[in-house]
Amino acid sequence: MVSILKRLEAEPYRLSNQREEVRERSVEDVTETVREKILESHPELVMEARMFREKRKEIVALVQELIVSKELYVPKLTRRDLAERIAQELCGLGPIDELLDDPEVTEIMVNGPREVFVERQGLLQKTDIQFKDDDHLLDVINRIVQGVGRRVDKSVPYVDARLPDGSRVNAIIPPLSLNGPTLTIRRFPKKFSSLDELVENDTLSEDLARLLKRCVELRLDVVISGGSGSGKTTTLNVLANTVGAGERIIVIEDSSEIRIPDHHVVYLEARPQNMEGKGEVTIRDLLRNALRMRPDRIIIGECRGKETFDLISAMNTGHEGCLSTVHANSSRDCLERLCGMALMAQEGVPVEVLRSWIAIAVDVIVHQVKKADGTRVVSEVSLVGEDREKGLVAFPIYSRDSGQDVEEIPPWFTEKVGRERVVQLFEAFRGSWGCDKERRENL
Ligand SMILES: Nc1ncnc2c1ncn2[C@@H]1O[C@H](COP(=O)(O)OP(=O)(O)OP(=O)(O)O)[C@@H](O)[C@H]1O
Ligand SMILES: [Mg+2]
Repeated sequence: MVSILKRLEAEPYRLSNQREEVRERSVEDVTETVREKILESHPELVMEARMFREKRKEIVALVQELIVSKELYVPKLTRRDLAERIAQELCGLGPIDELLDDPEVTEIMVNGPREVFVERQGLLQKTDIQFKDDDHLLDVINRIVQGVGRRVDKSVPYVDARLPDGSRVNAIIPPLSLNGPTLTIRRFPKKFSSLDELVENDTLSEDLARLLKRCVELRLDVVISGGSGSGKTTTLNVLANTVGAGERIIVIEDSSEIRIPDHHVVYLEARPQNMEGKGEVTIRDLLRNALRMRPDRIIIGECRGKETFDLISAMNTGHEGCLSTVHANSSRDCLERLCGMALMAQEGVPVEVLRSWIAIAVDVIVHQVKKADGTRVVSEVSLVGEDREKGLVAFPIYSRDSGQDVEEIPPWFTEKVGRERVVQLFEAFRGSWGCDKERRENL
């Protein structure tokens, strides 16, 4: 098949044998036929080819095969040219193609059809690239997200998706976005899979890495907090990798990012509503289902809404060692957000009751920040509980900036998790608390 193709591809179409059933068709007609067939038979390949140039060769070959086998003749065009045209039609992303070909571009931000920014080496730059109009940009957005079974339109005006190459795409369109369709592509996210790697790039110290690993071993409930892009999901993933191999982990996410190889894991992904406004499956639905799946550990990629209530309830009803992330500006803010989100689910529950539930549920908050130079660091680690006077508190035991050491562990924390666990926790945190025998004895 391949050698015949090679010979034929350079030749223009000639209806040499003039077989009756062979009819000439317009380029548009053939393009449409081939496009539909290939989208149906190879949706993943098309998707990959939209992101990677190399893959386009495979599409061109596939298109040629189809042209030959279906005898799709077009006058005055060689098979190769026709196939290239169809492949471009299938996989091209218009004005941003050149950005995707540029390995230095780590982020592409399209704020409506007239404004395209990129990030190169951590720096934001405006480009002179433009789209024709809103529809053109919307078409490109849908081309990108179609491959992962998503679509944006009036009924579903935003989408968040992870592409096969690991890039993350977010699109939001009018009327929600006032700039016109807005597209953000975060490319080549570097994968960190172990705590050692985070120590190596100074996200955290060795002491801290041991402390966090021990938190997971001791089945404490940990929430990672931080601003957008501060590396929360990465740290969550790294911590999840330290879970014991014998445990059954259920991972619940909006768009799947977390990977825990060599473990017993069930990955669940929420689903947005379809065009008729039906079929939505929320994180909350999945969490409720997960509780019936005999989980040893529940991991929720990010708490953004009502699921917070169910997570807190799960943490309080014997599901220890849960991990999640929350978008927040500080450990303190993280507690407020947890409370606010849980309240959204159960307005009838008095705030004070919710605060006590959170105090019992969450054990540790790891707060992370993205610094101006683009590096990510764990800036604070706090113990969570209920202080008799202050109520729900986040008590910092590590602060990167102040470098201050904790003087003593608050008694409410020892009461809450037990002396044995506190000792083990701080044994891991050598260099500061763990070595001090006297302090340990005073617990
Ligand atoms: N510790 C780290 N050191 C350096 N880069 C990191 C670190 N953690 C994450 N990154 C990079 O930062 C980007 C964002 O990471 P991640 O998705 O983990 O952040 P996030 O806080 O979960 O973001 P979001 O708010 O979008 O959920 C990725 O490109 C990732 O490679
Ligand atoms: Mg995240």
